[in-house]
Amino acid sequence: MKKNTDKINKGWSIRKHLVRYRYHFILGLIALVIVDLLQLRVPLITGRVTDGLSSPDMTIAILRGEVLLILIIGGSIAVGRFIWRYFIFGASRKIEALIRADYFRHLETLSMTFYNKNKTGDLMAYATNDLNAIRMMVGPGLLMAFDALVLTVLVLYQMLTTINVQLTLVAIIPLPLIAGGSMLLGRSIRNRFRSKQEAFAGMSDMVQENISGIRVIKSYVQEIKEIRAFNIKNRHNYDMNLRVIRLQALMMPLAMMISGLSIAIALGYGGYMTMIGKITLGDFVAFIQYIMMMIWPMIAMGWCINIMSQGNASLTRLTNIMNQKPGIIDLEDASNDSIKEATLEFKHLSYTYPGTDTPVLKDINLTVNKGETLGIIGKTGCGKTTLMNLLVRLYNPPEGTIAIGGHDIYHWTVKSLRRSFGYVPQDNFLFSDTIFNNINFVKNKDLNKDVVDSATLADVHANIEDFTHGYDTIVGERGVTLSGGQKQRISIARAHLIDPLFLVLDDAVSAVDTKTEESILSALKTSRTDKTTIIIAHRISTIQDANQIIVMDEGRIIEQGNHDALMNLKGTYYKLVQKQQLEKIIGEQE
Ligand SMILES: Nc1ncnc2c1ncn2[C@@H]1O[C@H](COP(=O)(O)OP(=O)(O)O)[C@@H](O)[C@H]1O
Ligand SMILES: [Mg+2]
Repeated sequence: MKKNTDKINKGWSIRKHLVRYRYHFILGLIALVIVDLLQLRVPLITGRVTDGLSSPDMTIAILRGEVLLILIIGGSIAVGRFIWRYFIFGASRKIEALIRADYFRHLETLSMTFYNKNKTGDLMAYATNDLNAIRMMVGPGLLMAFDALVLTVLVLYQMLTTINVQLTLVAIIPLPLIAGGSMLLGRSIRNRFRSKQEAFAGMSDMVQENISGIRVIKSYVQEIKEIRAFNIKNRHNYDMNLRVIRLQALMMPLAMMISGLSIAIALGYGGYMTMIGKITLGDFVAFIQYIMMMIWPMIAMGWCINIMSQGNASLTRLTNIMNQKPGIIDLEDASNDSIKEATLEFKHLSYTYPGTDTPVLKDINLTVNKGETLGIIGKTGCGKTTLMNLLVRLYNPPEGTIAIGGHDIYHWTVKSLRRSFGYVPQDNFLFSDTIFNNINFVKNKDLNKDVVDSATLADVHANIEDFTHGYDTIVGERGVTLSGGQKQRISIARAHLIDPLFLVLDDAVSAVDTKTEESILSALKTSRTDKTTIIIAHRISTIQDANQIIVMDEGRIIEQGNHDALMNLKGTYYKLVQKQQLEKIIGEQE
């Protein structure tokens, strides 16, 4: 019953986008045919003028008329070319943008399990390389295929009907070689192009790593080593570029050579036919032009085959990923209401991450009443974060093991569940945006808290005021570098601002000094009556005032109770307190 009909991707396909722009394609293709038809007129006119020149009937007026006609045709061709470019290339760009939007929307729905399995670089490649190949297919690829086909048929028809069947058939014999050569050469070019792209990606990855890791590189004095490594990559990139250029440079001369054969046949055989009077001089001139007009479609046909096969491969890859189902979905009858009661219950919760076989949580039993603060303490890797991941359904817990607000977790939609949480994750994250926007991340209009109030509560207001631009200070890559403690406190302010029913602080004050920590915690306590707060910590001082503390070890709760009860147990908690007190005393003496 957990599986729900998935509303987001009922089989994604590019079709709906193509259909949406069908009129663009139709108009573009019509313009293309008109251009091709106009192009066919040009050799006829030059042929006519040639014949006219060798006859006594030719007048300046006729000549003027033909020139004017050529000019008009030339102008119309230009307009037609603009129209098909505008419609077809325009539509392909729009389709590219629509697919990219689909893709981004889809990425936002996919679960943590998906993100653990796929590398960022690969996910980016779908939006760049693959999408590009698809655009090439629906834009230039489609266009060239159509153009090549129409032009070939029309020119052939024209040669056969207006000039001479025999001459035509003989002269075009070498032409398919161009198409074949262009296809084969194109395929090699593509392979080399891929190596070239990989070389470039490798190089830019290295630059990026070096910039991010510049402090480590400098402090270990590794600049020279890095420069040497970069030079090798740079050289490799250069070599790969040359490999592509060498083949590309071969393309035109080869096509010219083959078409040269056709032209030679046309010259020899056509010249002979003109001499014996089978065709006129004008026919001969026109014929040579028609043969030249066949070269481009032949090259294009070879290219098209490559573009289409590449685009098709990319489309398959993308369709595949677009049809991956989001792993975290709602039951069909899930309630989208806001959760009212700040109560929590874990019932025999055991959990193993998907794709692994060691359980990381074992038989967790725990009840948290509304208004309580729960403290969780335990060694790194004992499952504290996992417990929280399940609580907000970043992963799916087994059914019936977690109850929230008096109902099983699957009673609620993911949206209503997460709306009731303010989560400060261990690896907190600030966006490259202003501090104000980072705190006011959930731009909810009917907030009953204020950004400055929340920052004050998180004891970071004074810090922010000290920055030259105050709350408008940009953080992240292109802004100020904040200390770990400042980041943590801004993250706390962000979570507090939405005044959540459940507030989760996962190791969120570890980089904050004990005094500041104390002030944040006591402010939280007064502001969160009737609401539940979960604090994960390593320091006893962070959690000792909690109503309930659990000590975890290897996925189990090994001790449970409030501070006094746990002290009386004289177990793990007690030893931890003694150890931390000792450390504190030593620290003070230094
Ligand atoms: N996405 C994941 N897939 C598989 N194993 C994981 C994943 N996340 C964490 N783990 C494992 O689960 C165990 C508990 O991790 P965690 O809950 O992060 O511990 P804590 O927060 O207490 O340090 C660890 O052994 C960790 O390696
Ligand atoms: Mg953790």
